[in-house]
Amino acid sequence: KKIALVTGGFTGESVISLKSAAVVEKNLDHARYDIFKILVYPGNWYHETSNGDKIPVDLNDFSILLGGERIKFDGIFNILHGSPGEDGKLAGYFDMLGIPYTTCDALTSAITMNKGYTKAIVQDIPELHVAKSMQLFGKQVGQAEKILKNLKLPLFVKPNNGGSSIGMSKVKEASALQEALDKAFHEDSQVLVEEFVSGREFSIGVYKAKGSITVLPATEIISSKEFFDFEAKYVPGVTEEITPGRMSGEEVARVNRIIEKIYQKLNCKGSVRVDYFLEHGSGNFYFIEINTVPGQTETSLITQQVKATGMAIRDFYTLLIEEMLG
Ligand code: DAL
Ligand code: MG
Repeated sequence: KKIALVTGGFTGESVISLKSAAVVEKNLDHARYDIFKILVYPGNWYHETSNGDKIPVDLNDFSILLGGERIKFDGIFNILHGSPGEDGKLAGYFDMLGIPYTTCDALTSAITMNKGYTKAIVQDIPELHVAKSMQLFGKQVGQAEKILKNLKLPLFVKPNNGGSSIGMSKVKEASALQEALDKAFHEDSQVLVEEFVSGREFSIGVYKAKGSITVLPATEIISSKEFFDFEAKYVPGVTEEITPGRMSGEEVARVNRIIEKIYQKLNCKGSVRVDYFLEHGSGNFYFIEINTVPGQTETSLITQQVKATGMAIRDFYTLLIEEMLG
């Protein structure tokens, strides 16, 4: 089978996508699949051959002409973080062409790319809590004052459709709020402002194959930075990551229950990763967000979690591809 490994992207996360794609490419079962890496940049979609030639993609059918042969793909391994791979745009395009892909459908991708809308959907799930927040649609005069009236410091300020913590700030003092808002609005026209929850941070992978949902062991994140920011996410050694994270039997059972419900309620497909806090004291589960094209770099969490189960990464990727091919 011919599989396109789709990477690149239109956002600051494209550099991460390239790293993820390199890890995926290295670990795919090349005896079983013919893999073609396809790079998707604004107005520039191409396959790069091993000797560096760039072969343009025909957008009418997502095919390439290689050595006189027209190559059409049996499926897409989507590893493009952010837009257009994680927000439903590519999913809609591949749906129209009838090419299956490893990730969530267009609707789920579009909703989950938006942190505020996702919270609105998952907040009714039993045992799941969400931090108090405000979703801002564009800059307004007096906005910072209004936020400070409604929400308690410290606050997290995030581009609502962002990833990898790009444009995100933790605000501890009122005087720092405006700068944080400006930074987030620089990335996105929508911004989410959330109250800080004092707790331990975790991230957990979950996937569906052969009709059943499997929740991977959670990773506990102990960041030496103020929060799990871009550097803490991708520079090795900045963050201590423990897999499986330290949770009691009750916590593991409860978290797995909640994660399975999130996966079902959002109608997810393939492997996704949910970020959450367990609040100090109460142990309550606070949902942060869901990533429907989770990172697969050398420091990424899903790869650590798959290894912790004893499954080879190659078998995990094969499982996702076979599930997609149906
Ligand atoms: N958005 C990054 C790639 C992640 O969630 O892993
Ligand atoms: Mg994310």
